[in-house]
Amino acid sequence: MQNLSTQDEWIARARAVFPAGGFGNFDPGIIIARGEGSHVWDENGTDYIDYLIGSGPMLLGHGHPEVIEAVLEQLPKGMTFFANNAKGIELAEAIVEAVPCCEQVRFVTSGGEADMYAIRLARAYTGRNKILKFEGGYHGMSAEAQMSLAPTTHVNFPQAVPDSAGIPPGVADQMLIAPFNDLAAVEMLLAENDDIAAIIAEPLQRIIPAAPGFLQGLRALCDRYSVLLIFDEIVTGFRLAYGGAQEHYGVTPDICTLGKIIGGGFPLAALGASAEIMRHFDKSIVGTDKWLMQLGTLSGNPIAAAAGLKTMEILRRDGSYSRLRETGRALQQMQSRALEGAGIAHQICGDETLFDVFFTTGPCRDYRSAKHDDPARNATYNATLRQHGIFKSPGKLYPSLAITPVDLEKTEYAIERAVQSIALT
Ligand SMILES: Cc1ncc(COP(=O)(O)O)c(C=O)c1O
Repeated sequence: MQNLSTQDEWIARARAVFPAGGFGNFDPGIIIARGEGSHVWDENGTDYIDYLIGSGPMLLGHGHPEVIEAVLEQLPKGMTFFANNAKGIELAEAIVEAVPCCEQVRFVTSGGEADMYAIRLARAYTGRNKILKFEGGYHGMSAEAQMSLAPTTHVNFPQAVPDSAGIPPGVADQMLIAPFNDLAAVEMLLAENDDIAAIIAEPLQRIIPAAPGFLQGLRALCDRYSVLLIFDEIVTGFRLAYGGAQEHYGVTPDICTLGKIIGGGFPLAALGASAEIMRHFDKSIVGTDKWLMQLGTLSGNPIAAAAGLKTMEILRRDGSYSRLRETGRALQQMQSRALEGAGIAHQICGDETLFDVFFTTGPCRDYRSAKHDDPARNATYNATLRQHGIFKSPGKLYPSLAITPVDLEKTEYAIERAVQSIALT
């Protein structure tokens, strides 16, 4: 009988119990056994420098001692209550203090849930139905969010295309799709449709930056047409700056959604807005057509809130964001240097706090233009990085505050090997 490694055994067990052998999130060919600081180890004991950071939450790295202490302090006091609790209230206070558009917040368990409620809230507030979404924008798994998320065939704008089975056709009729960074297209849709409740946008769409003036333009158009502007800050919140993309770019939306970092690695997300908009969640209006029911078993979970609060406290310390950006810049520069040295056409797209290489030289302005000229080249580049101990998603690299100078040296070595691997193809 063949000798399977520990990891292979886990992979085989996963294949038996999960469709496609995995949780649906990431490559099921690797099973993570543990994480510490800037590193993760797989079930075979292979050590990786972690640039996936749990898809964003672990900005401080794994097992930050102060976060663990905060969680351990809360654990014996109770894991979940379904009732208001001090940690959840303190976390809401910290969010309201930090994030410009939030006078009040509501907690949910996942980012996708926050986005679903944000869309519903905009409809409740405006009394309108349609939502303008950008092609390729990611807002979780709700029926609306699955419209034109990653279409493989291109239809004419503003037609919405479902990316998932099981969605009734009527949902597409309530969605208008525009190309990111195209203010003229947005303006035309607003002028032609008087039933638009909101525009929902990632202020940094995946890793495509908003062109100068685009977010300001969206704000001005929303004001002109009395449409709400929703920023999905699940990724950008507490990452681009402490106050998120709205602080970083100086544009305040009407509603924002937050997740990932605010739960410190535990399941917690939120949506926030002015008290006037948030009043739809107020139980005193039950029975009126303005009431929006919202609750969840784990909302405001005290363990998640304790971890999120401590994470945010650490992020507030002097130099956190400049250090994060310095690390990101160093990682960008080492990739540019190596790729330029090998004469490989590329560009680095994103923000210093999350980015990746595109093997293309054309503009990366929207879903259709932000594409690799040669996807196989990207696959080889990422596979070689993995072989040399770099753990990252194939479409994104997240620096963390746990990355050390030694990690950067090892990463540079891996990048040089990865560049060699594609220079040979
Ligand atoms: C911009 C954005 N919105 C929403 C979500 C959904 O968050 P969750 O996976 O917590 O449901 C994600 C997840 O990566 C995201 O990147």
